[in-house]
Amino acid sequence: MIEKRAVFATRFAAVATTVGSAVGLGNIWRFPYEAGMHGGAAFILCYLAFVFAIALPVLCAEFAMGRDTRSNIFGAFRKLCPGGAWHYVGYVAILASLLILSFYSVVAGWTVEYTLASVCGKLNFADAATGHGQFVELTTGWRPVVWTVIFLLCNVCVLMGGVTKGIERMSNILMPLLFVLLVAFCINSFTMPGFADGIRFLFSPDFSKITPAVLLSALGQAFFSLSLGLGCMMTYASYFSDRNRLGTTAFTTAMLDTLVAILAGIIIFPAVFSFGISPGSGPTLVFEVLPFIFSQLPAGAVWSTLFFMLLFLASITSTVSMSEISITFLCEEKKMSRRSATLLSSAIALVGGVLCALSFGPLRGFTIGGMTVFDLFDYVSSNICLPLGGMAVSIFVGWVIDRRMLRRQMTDGGAFRFRLLPVLVFCLRWLCPAAILLIFLNSIGLI
Ligand code: PFF
Repeated sequence: MIEKRAVFATRFAAVATTVGSAVGLGNIWRFPYEAGMHGGAAFILCYLAFVFAIALPVLCAEFAMGRDTRSNIFGAFRKLCPGGAWHYVGYVAILASLLILSFYSVVAGWTVEYTLASVCGKLNFADAATGHGQFVELTTGWRPVVWTVIFLLCNVCVLMGGVTKGIERMSNILMPLLFVLLVAFCINSFTMPGFADGIRFLFSPDFSKITPAVLLSALGQAFFSLSLGLGCMMTYASYFSDRNRLGTTAFTTAMLDTLVAILAGIIIFPAVFSFGISPGSGPTLVFEVLPFIFSQLPAGAVWSTLFFMLLFLASITSTVSMSEISITFLCEEKKMSRRSATLLSSAIALVGGVLCALSFGPLRGFTIGGMTVFDLFDYVSSNICLPLGGMAVSIFVGWVIDRRMLRRQMTDGGAFRFRLLPVLVFCLRWLCPAAILLIFLNSIGLI
């Protein structure tokens, strides 16, 4: 049975929900570690350029496609280009969404574990030097598998609550709260001995550090952070009302998402330099550094509990959105009930999640192309599938379909003038496809 399509009640709810999807572990966990591994400010500079010149136009295009067709990614491509093969992009999108859901659930599982460890007083705040040992203890072996499963179960519960009820209610309350907490921690960073070094690392670029790998990672991070290239924003926009200035919603989402990432950087790097941790520590960086920060604060356990709990909730608003891609596909294309679709996609993510969780423990030595399963899922989805998906969307909207669709959607059916339309069209036709292609060819050494 296909359920009736829901519509977000207010514009605020629509923005809160897209921001809820965009803001998550990508900003607070992935952005700092990617920046740390790829030269800090040089990476951030590329990232900012890609967010505004490439990802933002693609976000507008996804919004337009989603609201125009009111369907999932397959339906959107098919309705706009009947008879074409474009809807096959949807398969790559679904693959990417399930890969991301798998490794994302592992990290979200760590947040659950850290929340509980904080509540039970098991995070050792008195002796911050044991941060690394603690991380290893909490996240290796079979334990993370249990937390990954628990996290995915929470995700299923929210998804079963339906689109408007479950997601809207959570996003409206949690996102502002998380933001306030981040600002508070950011202010605390000013007091750290490594503040100046941290800020220099973040904002004073060494241009010689910009390599093809840095460009590709920054591009992947821009798409990952804005939940782009896999039809997630397209699916959400299919629930927008007809009066929702898409350009404003897209810009607000990009700004807030970037702001949260930068705040996370300002929280993490002064601490990294204060405590002598290597900025290039990789995926474990943030989880090793945060307990150090809490150990410096009065009532550290309280802050820690609050922070990890909010991070867990921010992760859920993101996983709900990425699950929505395969669920709407299964419901609308395969005529499954929402319940069965939710269970099926969660079961697939569960298998992937277990493999990713084990790659910090028993499967550590199992690598493909030098990457563990966790790293491989992340690399393939974020650095390959998402930018390619974004390139497909920009070529599709810029070249393949009638350009009046974009105009209609960006102006709410002619209700107002959207002055930036020519710029948007230029970006979608030329800049986005060309830049993504060049970065790809460059990173595989072809140019
Ligand atoms: N944008 C999310 C984050 O930054 O945490 C991650 C994400 C959500 C990626 C939804 C892809 C997606 F479809």
